Amino acid sequence: MPVTKPESEDAELEPSRDGAGTASAAEQPGARQPDAEPAAEKRAEPSTGAQPASGAGAGPTHSPVEPEPEPRSGSTAPEAEATGPEQPSRLSRRGVLGLVGAGAAGLAVGAVGGGFAGAAIATGGFGGAGAGHGLEQHPFFGIHQAGITTPTQDRLHFASFDVREGTTRQQLLTLLQKWSYAASRLTQGLDISASGAVGGSSLAPPDDTGEALGLPPAGLTITIGFGPTLFVDANGADRFGLADRRPPLLEPLPRFTGDALEAAISGGDLCVQACANDPQVAVHAIRNFTRIGFGTVVLRWSQLGFGRTSSTSTTQQTARNLFGFKDGTANIKAEETAETDAQVWVGASDGPDWMAGGSYLVARKIRMVIESWDRQQLGEQERVFGRDKREGAPLSGGGEFTDPDFSAVGPAGAHNAGKPVIDLKAHVRLAHPTNNGGARILRRGYNFVDGNDQLGRLDAGLFFLSYQRDPNQFVTVQRSLSGDLLNEYIRHVGSGVWAIPPGARENGYVGETLIS
Ligand code: HEM
Repeated sequence: MPVTKPESEDAELEPSRDGAGTASAAEQPGARQPDAEPAAEKRAEPSTGAQPASGAGAGPTHSPVEPEPEPRSGSTAPEAEATGPEQPSRLSRRGVLGLVGAGAAGLAVGAVGGGFAGAAIATGGFGGAGAGHGLEQHPFFGIHQAGITTPTQDRLHFASFDVREGTTRQQLLTLLQKWSYAASRLTQGLDISASGAVGGSSLAPPDDTGEALGLPPAGLTITIGFGPTLFVDANGADRFGLADRRPPLLEPLPRFTGDALEAAISGGDLCVQACANDPQVAVHAIRNFTRIGFGTVVLRWSQLGFGRTSSTSTTQQTARNLFGFKDGTANIKAEETAETDAQVWVGASDGPDWMAGGSYLVARKIRMVIESWDRQQLGEQERVFGRDKREGAPLSGGGEFTDPDFSAVGPAGAHNAGKPVIDLKAHVRLAHPTNNGGARILRRGYNFVDGNDQLGRLDAGLFFLSYQRDPNQFVTVQRSLSGDLLNEYIRHVGSGVWAIPPGARENGYVGETLIS
């Protein structure tokens, strides 16, 4: 259902906005603030963070659905929601104007491509600390969810949630509406609701936790996914009447050679990937999503990441992973639209219908045995990957973006005379599409350092994220890597797979095609 203007709200109470829905200066990117509003209306704005409601927890009651009379008192809103019939809450007028206005501002500057990839306000280059890096902005609404082909931001906060026992289908739907509404605001650099961190009643906890006040959008994207257990749980129960809508491809991943998976950092009914150029902006998003979901979902595990290990756009320089190698050179780039259509986006005829325009996400938490790696000779390190460390060029010659020649052999007299210059078990040989029936994946991982163990070893690695049209693309490559030279230095400890639905239509919500 599209958002319509609530009749009960008076345009005169909105002096800071014009009737055309243009964002006020306070809502322009770069000015993260609660909405400017008269003091009298601030007092009347119902606080939504005070108590968990029976619906989707303690988050804002505004969401992108048909309007209903809005409670005007701070104390009645949560009660009404707790005791009344389960109705989706609505978007306040200020919220509507915020979305339309600031959304329009973003689109006016960005170039809208076939989704989000081209829709950023690019200021200061991606992946570096340019002057306007924080002003980068990506629209939330669109054909595909943002955060997939979007040029990879510098920071990650990834969260996996479980839906609580006893939650109803309607409560799940309400949560998705609230998350989407919040995401549509946060990605513009706004608080999660109109009253936000400091604009609500002084007698209630604020809607927004406040640590992002004054921070710009910082290129924030929010990407939401559904795990296999959302459809059918471990006991075979169809919790939300969604079992017959589960994509057949959304199966738990098979066990792979060398897996050392820990249940506590694997799986989850829902996932939320928050990427931004400022860690505080990404963490603020996950924290507030968790708070919105209080009573409906619990945080199962989460992961912070830094120093993107992949480029997803030709505009980006290739970053390096914690082994010091350029990572992302041969990745699928947003500009390769034929490849993203073939390898990343679920096609209209792939089925199920509700997944068209979506993708599948695989996450693997991979610990890297840094101390062993750091004692290896440079030549051995390069043999492991099949690329040189300085440029990231294949050992068969050329520059970073030269295709590897897997048939090349060492010249007479050399230490590798007559032998393949790219080892038969080198990472890039085994991962290459020619070794995997043409399968490619869009990698979007991040480095992580979670402190150190008691022996003084870094607890560090790669939080691997890949998007693909079919999870079997990942499975194919990962199986090929069972003999990878790299395996001596890494250990897969966490894992998950989620269906990533298509993007939300303007003022709709992520998941609307599945559950409405
Ligand atoms: C800690 C673990 C890993 C590290 C350090 C790592 C590192 C690298 C590096 C340095 C490259 C070469 C540059 C590039 O094209 O990006 C590369 C390529 C690649 N990696 Fe990994 N990788 C890891 C795990 C994985 C996993 C788990 C997969 C998928 C199952 C994977 C799939 C690929 C693919 C598809 C390529 C491109 C191959 C090509 O087309 O040339 N990697 N990786």
